[in-house]
Amino acid sequence: MCGIIGYTGPLPANGILLDGLKRLEYRGYDSAGMAVMDGSRMKVVKRAGRVGLLEDLVGGLMGHVGIAHTRWATHGGVTDANAHPHTSCDGMIAIVHNGILENSEELREELIGRGHRFTSETDSEIIAHVLEEELKGVEKEELVAALLRTVRRLEGSFAFLAISPLLGDVILAARKDSPMVVGVLPDAKIPASDVLSFLKWTDDAYFMENESVALMTPVDIEAWLFDGTPLDVRPVKVAVEVKGEYGGGDVHHTLKEIREQPMAVRRALEQDGELLSELAGLMREADRVYAVGAGTSYHAALVARYMFAGIAGLEVQPVLASEHRLFSGWIGDGSLVMAISQSGETADVLEAVRVAKARGAKIVAIVNMPRSSLERMSHASVNIRAGPEVGVAATKSFTAQLAVLAALAYHVAGRPIDLDGERVGSLIEDVLAQEGSIERMVEGIKDGRDVYLVGRGMHYPIALEGALKMKELAYIHAEGMAAGELKHGTLALIEGGTPVILLNPSDDTYKETLSNGEEMKARGAFIMGISDRSSDLYDVHIELPRTRGYETPMVEVVPLQLMAYYTALLRGAEIDKPRNLAKSVTVK
Ligand code: G6P
Repeated sequence: MCGIIGYTGPLPANGILLDGLKRLEYRGYDSAGMAVMDGSRMKVVKRAGRVGLLEDLVGGLMGHVGIAHTRWATHGGVTDANAHPHTSCDGMIAIVHNGILENSEELREELIGRGHRFTSETDSEIIAHVLEEELKGVEKEELVAALLRTVRRLEGSFAFLAISPLLGDVILAARKDSPMVVGVLPDAKIPASDVLSFLKWTDDAYFMENESVALMTPVDIEAWLFDGTPLDVRPVKVAVEVKGEYGGGDVHHTLKEIREQPMAVRRALEQDGELLSELAGLMREADRVYAVGAGTSYHAALVARYMFAGIAGLEVQPVLASEHRLFSGWIGDGSLVMAISQSGETADVLEAVRVAKARGAKIVAIVNMPRSSLERMSHASVNIRAGPEVGVAATKSFTAQLAVLAALAYHVAGRPIDLDGERVGSLIEDVLAQEGSIERMVEGIKDGRDVYLVGRGMHYPIALEGALKMKELAYIHAEGMAAGELKHGTLALIEGGTPVILLNPSDDTYKETLSNGEEMKARGAFIMGISDRSSDLYDVHIELPRTRGYETPMVEVVPLQLMAYYTALLRGAEIDKPRNLAKSVTVK
């Protein structure tokens, strides 16, 4: 994973890089570092810990060209030495890298054999040493060839930036299967892992092609594909969708994003009807439809199965992106793959799409980040328009995904969309109005070891999503259960005081779920009922507004998000950046 950023331009690089790193921190936050060049001198600072720890150290880094990194460890532990930037043996080249090199063992041995000295355990450091070999004695006009030779020696995924006093104000950049976009100002260039890191300075962006390299100076960018073909470098205006407020404020991003859901759903449902009809046409024509995603986006795929079946009678097969191989054999030119991803950069999703595309499938992306790698790989895409989501745990992107998936299902059915953005938004507002009582309620679960979330039908994937929030935000073991499955094992774990969250809106699943609740209650469970109907069964009742049909999942997930948020708050957990996790998982 990891986030990278560079700067070459007229301003001191350290402040711009530090600001960018803070915005990139969602991509990884176990170590951070920066290299800045001042004429012939290059200084590097790096350390294990959050970006904030760098603040005191970078003041002394003078210069107008620099690179910086925030890390999520893959190869090598969380230590100062393993933090980026990494440098060549002579200290004349510094690099930052996002991705995983698959031939790192062989390369490391080879390089050590030729006398290179390594100072970290990372795969990334290899890039600095390979560049050192390739750039040796190279004239300016041979620079591109040297960079191309470097990338051809690397296998795996990478986006890297390199600077050197030998190269003056030039930044070298390369990408393969990891994102890289360059913020373009007339007199400065800011290459980075995402647009949020430079939006403060410019909304003109050049999205590097996959498998390409670039050389940039403050006034120019030149780019080539790995096979040497020169590319036409055309910056584009970054879409308005990513320009929302992402600066912070006094509450956590996660809470702010939970509270933004009424707006997110309204915007998600303001879609181009023609585009949805076109996609619906593709779905109707397909022999098989798959919905691929990871994490929360996979849960949206699970809900989509119920929506498409219920609304349009269409069978949609949800596929965990990391398990796509099981399905790949069946994918062919009659298949359609709906790839659901907030970031559009999740490595497993991109890999699944690559395989499906190679087998002839049509790819439809449901994304939040415009111009993401996924969007660019797809035949067509819908933007869920949730606005920037910074909290690592997905919240508003989930409800916006559900809104778009339901709208698409109505298009497939050829029926008017029976879902009104205003209405769903105000139903969510009704739930948000109970924030205070939810906050008090979680006192009862904050010290627990386990929580069970139980639901039937489309409420089952919502139970899974609620459990995921509880795990990632509050670090409490939580299990989402299909209500009917309890008797086949999990009931054995229910004893006096075991907290159970019962998702029980009054639809056709109501009565059976209530009986399952009784069975748990009889074994001593403490039942927190989430329903529009009260019942003596519930030790605690979170009242849902009365919802209809496919509005329900978008509304009932909100109390679960709030419960996880407030439990995390009471337990003193790091809410926006849970330990060991990252928002955009760009490694397999
Ligand atoms: C990470 C995030 C999750 C997210 C998942 C998929 O694990 O922490 O919140 O659901 O990636 O991300 P995507 O961007 O593909 O939706």
